[in-house]
Amino acid sequence: MEIVSQADVRLPVTLRSFIMMQDSHLLRCTGCARAIALMDLKENFRCPECGELYEVEYPAWSDMSGNGQNCAGVPEIAARRALPNVSALRWLWKERRSSTELKDQSGVWRFREMLPILRDEQHIVSLREGNTPLYHMTRTADMTGADRIFAKHQGMNPTGSFKDTGMTTALSVAYERGFSWVACASTGNTSAAMAAYASRAGMRSLVLIPEGKIAWGKLSQALDYGALTVQLKTDFDGCVRVLSEVVRRAPVYLLNSVNPYRLEGQKTPALEIAEQMNWEVPDHLIVPGGNLANGSALGKAFLEMKHLGLTDRVPHISIVQAEGANPLYRAMHDWNGEKLVPVEANTRASAIRIGNPASWKKAVKIVRATGGWVEEASEADIALAKAEIGAEGIGCEPASAVTLVGLKKLMAAGRIEVSHSVVLLLTGHTLKDSDYTIDYHRGTLLREDEAAPQRQEIEFTRRNTIELEADADAVLRVLEKAAGH
Ligand code: F0G
Repeated sequence: MEIVSQADVRLPVTLRSFIMMQDSHLLRCTGCARAIALMDLKENFRCPECGELYEVEYPAWSDMSGNGQNCAGVPEIAARRALPNVSALRWLWKERRSSTELKDQSGVWRFREMLPILRDEQHIVSLREGNTPLYHMTRTADMTGADRIFAKHQGMNPTGSFKDTGMTTALSVAYERGFSWVACASTGNTSAAMAAYASRAGMRSLVLIPEGKIAWGKLSQALDYGALTVQLKTDFDGCVRVLSEVVRRAPVYLLNSVNPYRLEGQKTPALEIAEQMNWEVPDHLIVPGGNLANGSALGKAFLEMKHLGLTDRVPHISIVQAEGANPLYRAMHDWNGEKLVPVEANTRASAIRIGNPASWKKAVKIVRATGGWVEEASEADIALAKAEIGAEGIGCEPASAVTLVGLKKLMAAGRIEVSHSVVLLLTGHTLKDSDYTIDYHRGTLLREDEAAPQRQEIEFTRRNTIELEADADAVLRVLEKAAGH
C-alpha cells in the first residue's frame, strides 16, 4: 500500500483523500427530516418547522436510512467508493495513540473521520478526553453467572464524567464559530465539563444549576474551573426553561445535549468499545437515562459503524432510569413510546433527576432500532448496585449504577442470557458524589421502608466506618473479626 507522509502519522492514500473532504456535514431534523443551512440554525437547536431536534449527517457517507440513496441522491454503491478502507481506518485510529499530537491523543478526535464537524482542526479544544478503560466485572460475573460483563468507565475522563467526550466537540464548534460565551443548564456533570473546556479555550461560561440539588463535587468543579455559576431556586427542568430564554436574548452558545455536536463526541465510547473488543460488538449495551441524549449518541455510532463496514451488527441498547425520574419508562410502558408525560423528578441519583427529558424521542427511536428495553431502578436497588460496583474496585456515581440494576432485571426477565456479552456504561466517577457513598456505608442513606426488601444484601455490602482509639490492639481485634467473615 502506498504511504504518504503527514504531520501526525503516516496515512495511506485512500485515507488522505477521505480526510480532505472531511469538513462536509449537515444538520437534519429528526422530526420532519428537513436539512437546515448552518447559518439558519436557531440558538435553541430546534427545528423552526416542527420543534424537534437535529442530528449531524455526513453527505459523503450514503444515507443511513438504508433506502439505497445518499443525501445527494447518489446510489449507495457509488457513494461507498468514497469510503475509506476499514482495516486502514482501524490501524490509523490505533496508531494515533502513540502520537504526541493533542488531536491524536484525544480519545475523541483520534476518531475524527467519524466526526468531521470542524472546518479547521486548529480549533480543537481538548483535555485528552476518552481512551477510557473497559473493565471485566468479575464479581458481577460471579453474582449473575454471566461471565462476559464489562464496564466502560466514562468516569475516567478528565472532569470525571462522560460529558467530556461531547464537550470537546461542541465547545470546539463554538470556538470555531467565534462565540465568547457558552452556557448550560445542568444536574452537575455537564457544567463541570463545560466550565473546564471553556476555560481551556479562553472562553467564558454560564452555568445554571438547581439550588441544593446537585452533588457538591460537581458544584465545586464548576467554581474551580471558573464558570459563572448560578444556582436557581428550581429543578433541572426549570433551569432549562430559564436558559432557553437567556440564549434567545444574549449571544451565548447553548451546550446542553440538544446541541447535536455534543452527540458526535458522545459517539466515540462506542468506537472505543468496538476497538477494545477487537471489533466484536457486544450483545447488549446498558446506559443510564436522564435527559436521554447519550443512548441515542452511542446508538448512532453503532449504526454508523455497521453502515461503514467497521462492524457487522449493533448491540441491543437499553436505557435505565431511576423510579422517581422515569418519564421514558412510563412513556414506553403506558404510551408505547408515542407520548411522554413529564414527571416531577425525585431521586438521590441527582445526575438523572430529570422529569421532562429533551431527547426522549431520540431515545425511543434508538431503543426500537436496536431492539433494546427501558427499565427503571428503585433507590435501594441503585444504592446496592453502586456498592457492588464499588466492591469490584471500580466505583461510579449513583446515576451510573442504574445500569447494573438494569442488567439484573433484564436477566431476570430472560432478555439477557448468561452467554451474552454486556457492556454497562458507567457515566461518572465515584468521587463525584462522595456524600452518597458515605451515607450508604454509615447506614443513613435509605429510609427503613426503602431498604426493606434488600436489607440483607445491603448489610453485606456495607462497610461501617469505624472510629477507634489510637491503639494497635483495638485495630487487631477489628481485623480479626473482619477476617472471620
Ligand atoms: N449519568 C450521569 C453521571 C449524568 O451526569 C447524566 C446526565 C446521565 C447519566 C444521563 O445522560 O442526559 O444523556 O440521558 N447529566 C446531565 C448533566 C443532565 O447536566 O450533567 P443523558
